[in-house]
Amino acid sequence: MSKVSIIGTGAVGSATAYCLAETGTVNQIVLLDIVYGKAEGRALDMRQAAAIQRFDTIVTGVTNDYSATAGSDIVVVTSGMSRKPGMSRNDLITANAGIVRSVVSQVAEYSPESIIIMVSNPLDVLCYCALTVSGFAPNRIMGMSGLLDIARYRSFIAEELNVSTKDIQALILGGHGNTMVPLPRYTTIGGIPIRQLMSKEKIDKIIQRTRMGGDELIQLLGTSAWHAAGAAICQMIEAIVLNQRRVFPVCAYLDGEYGMHDICVGVPVILGSNGVEQVIDLELDEDDKQRFLESEKTVRDNIEIMKQLTANS
Ligand code: 2OP
Repeated sequence: MSKVSIIGTGAVGSATAYCLAETGTVNQIVLLDIVYGKAEGRALDMRQAAAIQRFDTIVTGVTNDYSATAGSDIVVVTSGMSRKPGMSRNDLITANAGIVRSVVSQVAEYSPESIIIMVSNPLDVLCYCALTVSGFAPNRIMGMSGLLDIARYRSFIAEELNVSTKDIQALILGGHGNTMVPLPRYTTIGGIPIRQLMSKEKIDKIIQRTRMGGDELIQLLGTSAWHAAGAAICQMIEAIVLNQRRVFPVCAYLDGEYGMHDICVGVPVILGSNGVEQVIDLELDEDDKQRFLESEKTVRDNIEIMKQLTANS
């Protein structure tokens, strides 16, 4: 008997809703958008698809009426501008920080017991923003990023080795941006360490392509992609609703793990009914530690920019 609300019904919000509705994991999905009729229209379309795809999830849509989201177990925040070609995720701080502050304060008011999954970019910065605005315990605020980045990494490895993505296990650390740190040391194919199956040059190329994975899609589509993002969010929701205790890379608050304090950044966690049940503090070699620290610095600098902006507004 779970209720999930999705704020923002652009491409990612809609892909998430449809993916989730089809799984039948939750019985109610509320879509909310600020554009009049958009969420209602998306919901109507999905209810008609339900008659063909045979799912019973109730999907409804509202225009900016947060009372309809009241009592949600999980709220997904996709609101804000998405990137256009040539933009970095951090170029969106100014546009999206204000939007996210307003959205999250209403979510906290109407669904004070919810778990919030942030999706708006720059992801790590806005996850931190959501944490401070909501006042929620850190286990109840997380961001979707690592699962998408690692899906890209796994798909590139699968293509290169001509094997199923199902057999590729991998981890990633760091911010959702060009400094993210995919970890070959923790990448296996059917249990075989990747370094036994692929040269260092090929692995490095795949890591670089993963870092630029969002940009590659924006070049092709003119805007951010949605299917993989929606599928990743859906998988996180399933892990929480069904208390699956999946080990996923997500953006989470760190309070000493990896020697980092007061920051939201990508790390592996156990995801269950309480949200982030545990941050897994991995052993890293010197190289990965260094790259993670560089990524942390970029996220921290941008959190400072966001704090300045909100202090001045
Ligand atoms: C991406 O990497 C939307 O940031 C997201 O595609």
